[in-house]
Amino acid sequence: MHPHAPSRRTLFRLALTGLTGAGAPLLLTGCGGRSENSSANVSTQGSAGRLLPSEAPLPEPFGRALPVPRVLKPVRTEPGTDYYEITQKTGTARILDDLETPVWGYDGTFPGPTIVSQRGRRTVVTHTNELPVPVVVHLHGGRVAADQDGYPTDYLHPVTGRVADHHGGGLNGAQGTRDYVYDIDQPAATLWYHDHRMDFTGPAVYRGLAGFHLIEDASEDSLGLPSGERDIPLMIADRSFAADGSFLYPSTDPSLTKVPGVSADYMSGVLGDCVLVNGAAWPELEVKAVRYRFRILNAANARRFRLRLDDGPEFVQIGSDQGLLAAPVTRTRIDVAQGERFDVVVDFSGYAAGSEITMVNERGDGPTAQVMRFVVTGPAGDDSRVPEKLGAVEELSGSDVVATRSFTFRRGGAKAHGMSLWTVNGEAFDPETVLATVKLGTVERWTVVAQNNEHPFHVHLGAFQVLGNTSAGHVDEGWKDTVNLDNGGRAELLVRFDRNRGAAVLHCHNLEHEDMMMMANFEIV
Ligand code: C2O
Ligand code: CU
Repeated sequence: MHPHAPSRRTLFRLALTGLTGAGAPLLLTGCGGRSENSSANVSTQGSAGRLLPSEAPLPEPFGRALPVPRVLKPVRTEPGTDYYEITQKTGTARILDDLETPVWGYDGTFPGPTIVSQRGRRTVVTHTNELPVPVVVHLHGGRVAADQDGYPTDYLHPVTGRVADHHGGGLNGAQGTRDYVYDIDQPAATLWYHDHRMDFTGPAVYRGLAGFHLIEDASEDSLGLPSGERDIPLMIADRSFAADGSFLYPSTDPSLTKVPGVSADYMSGVLGDCVLVNGAAWPELEVKAVRYRFRILNAANARRFRLRLDDGPEFVQIGSDQGLLAAPVTRTRIDVAQGERFDVVVDFSGYAAGSEITMVNERGDGPTAQVMRFVVTGPAGDDSRVPEKLGAVEELSGSDVVATRSFTFRRGGAKAHGMSLWTVNGEAFDPETVLATVKLGTVERWTVVAQNNEHPFHVHLGAFQVLGNTSAGHVDEGWKDTVNLDNGGRAELLVRFDRNRGAAVLHCHNLEHEDMMMMANFEIV
């Protein structure tokens, strides 16, 4: 059992109370007499979900320079350890032309600051919660201790006091301030951190609680890849805006304290009509005619992107979720599902000054078909390279498999009020039911099946290699922690947890599905 979880009965009963209790209409808003089909299994532009049109005027594309999130400086450094501090608080973003957008951010900004850790060193991040709700910080892709990972009920309550949430349990964890201690012992990789509070992850991330956490190591440093100002993280996400400029999201309870969930029409997912990169709408980046490294993250709640450089070079993929590939792979397009990372090098050297290259989203339509633009300013020196051999990627072999499991992500099984929930193997998330017990250091073969909708699968604390995936356009090279699944898709994974024991979750990274119970516990022993 997870040491911080409330009792099984309390939480599970209350979770379902959230669905069925008076005035608690998760999935049920306006559902009197509504048939299940009217809200079921919607897909739009290749993604589970429904488009939520903005009420505020959106800016013209390519009018703003790409912001690059600031790199957080340690407040203190000791032999072997770097200490950081982040305050989660409200802030204001200038995304629209005439209106301000309130955000919930790490240090009040969206995206939050980038943390850069060195492999072999300990990173301690002290988070202070000045928001009005409990928070949970998850290091997505981190192979860290289970009690530092951001288990959904390991709450950090506000400085102003503990909040009893709809579970009535809701009092677990720290209040005001807590340390997240990461013993970083995994290869160089592009990770990210984001909120992961039970039942409220979707709206919290949508309001801005997401940032990059990069891991560096000596073997990557020795490769000569583009670095410094030519190594740029790109956090891609869609949002919609209310008439007052705030982020528009169909929460049942906008206080995000009592009733989880979204209005029934959006239970498949919330799709925005404005594409943000690092928090700016359709930004533009001036580049020299040289190589750049871009660390692409899809931080959207529900939208999948299919990226291509229009009138531009191809992507040279050098890394995946968990770090460098063995060798670079040239790709015309990259499908990136929510939570996935693609580390790419783009070589602008064949392009004359003034060339404009648009990163397009082939899954999008109208405004969401564009992401950002690069403008080549002119030549410059470039001593970077992309070597033929990148990382040391150990290939897992099917003959090492000690156990096989299968996880079906679909709608149905568990029900409330005659409405089917998003489930894993037919079960709604119960923090105290352990779906799988895995032995540390062993290899397992997991079959993941997606039904009724697209479902990106994500597992905490471990990493996997993809043996096969029926989903169209998927790119699954290297070590991953998230895999893109089409509706009806099926992936075969070789999974290994090799760092820490403890309880963690696997779930759908469509955040609306995740909040509506599509998550399960497993335990590493
Ligand atoms: Cu990025 Cu459990 O999530
Ligand atoms: Cu899903």
